[in-house]
Amino acid sequence: MAILVTGGAGYIGSHTCVELLEADYEVVVVDNYYNSVPEVLNRVEKITGKKLKSYDCDIRDKEGLRKVFSENKIDAVIHFAGLKAVGESTKLPLTYYDNNISGSVVLFEIMNEFNCKKIVFSSSATVYGNNPIPYKEDMPTGDVSSPYGRTKHFIEKILEDVYASDNEWSISLLRYFNPIGAHSSGLIGEDPNGIPNNLMPYISRVAIGKLPQLTVFGGDYDTKDGTCIRDYIHVVDLAKAHLCAVAKIMDSTGCEAYNIGNGVGYSVLDIIHAFEKASGKALNYVIGDRRAGDLPAFYADAAKANTELNWHAELGIDKMCEDTWNFQTKNPDGIK
Ligand code: NAD
Ligand code: UD1
Repeated sequence: MAILVTGGAGYIGSHTCVELLEADYEVVVVDNYYNSVPEVLNRVEKITGKKLKSYDCDIRDKEGLRKVFSENKIDAVIHFAGLKAVGESTKLPLTYYDNNISGSVVLFEIMNEFNCKKIVFSSSATVYGNNPIPYKEDMPTGDVSSPYGRTKHFIEKILEDVYASDNEWSISLLRYFNPIGAHSSGLIGEDPNGIPNNLMPYISRVAIGKLPQLTVFGGDYDTKDGTCIRDYIHVVDLAKAHLCAVAKIMDSTGCEAYNIGNGVGYSVLDIIHAFEKASGKALNYVIGDRRAGDLPAFYADAAKANTELNWHAELGIDKMCEDTWNFQTKNPDGIK
């Protein structure tokens, strides 16, 4: 069975390619390498000892995608390709709407043209906005605070409309919580350009001495230690959720959302302390002001993914930190 992975050279996409190849799927990657490098795919092949096929192609390029579908009999698509920096999206909303939404529409059109109607989409817990915790799939969505978050909400709605118009489609909307960690080989991991916005890559760059100090955004929240609570999930567990979702869409039709998280909340200080334990280094940090737009606490109710996808997170916070540190020390300057 052949799976098209858009954004397959990226952080979550590359880990998913590893799991797909190890489960004997044929993998076809489409990526424009805007936020990744082709070397990542060589490393995926090195880890698995298997080959994949890749196209340097933008998902907004209709002719390019047509070529990919003409040359390969694609059974299903896992759609990761997109821009994901929340802060940047508030400055460049049109860039985000064009890349994420227009790109997705082009992809869905070409899938329709080639009668490929099975897709797993990378959504985000951000679609829940300010709901009570833990988040459940049947809660109202769309009260989001950034153009990035709105692209996720809109694409979910577009896919719901596509299914409503044609019940042959089979669609899985995976709402990721906070993916961290890396493959245990240390060959692939999260490798953001410039100064990281997210907690874990920032921590690991402070630990390796590339950044001087971590600022904890707020120490006065109404949480157990005053810092924000999030549901961190190991990227390999997240990658495996995609295989469960692919299995599900292969033998059913519909459009269903699933929370992919551990269901456990950790504070920023919990993560710092777990990272110090994993790396054996004291982390230089200071408690600073709150970051605009941050919610005090959210985590998943993952019962639906547990029962309907038969997926369970297996890797805990210590392993997430160990694997992040292993990747950071093996790739101090990132993947070139
Ligand atoms: P990433 O930036 O590492 O990977 C995205 C990949 O898509 C990159 O390789 C990039 O080059 C490619 N890409 C972007 N626009 C493209 C286009 N127009 N055409 C072709 N390729 C394109 O990001 P990631 O962390 O792996 O995230 C993957 C998906 O999961 C994204 O859609 C993201 O919004 C979503 N998501 C991520 C997180 C997270 O914390 N990492 C959380 C929730 C949802
Ligand atoms: C952010 C996005 C979310 C996106 C997710 C994954 C916002 C408001 N939300 O989630 O839409 O899906 O990234 O890409 O940006 N923190 C610090 N210091 C730092 C960095 C982070 O204290 O230098 C704290 C944050 O305040 C937060 C926690 O660490 O409490 C996690 O932050 P981050 O990794 O950016 O993820 P989210 O904000 O949860």
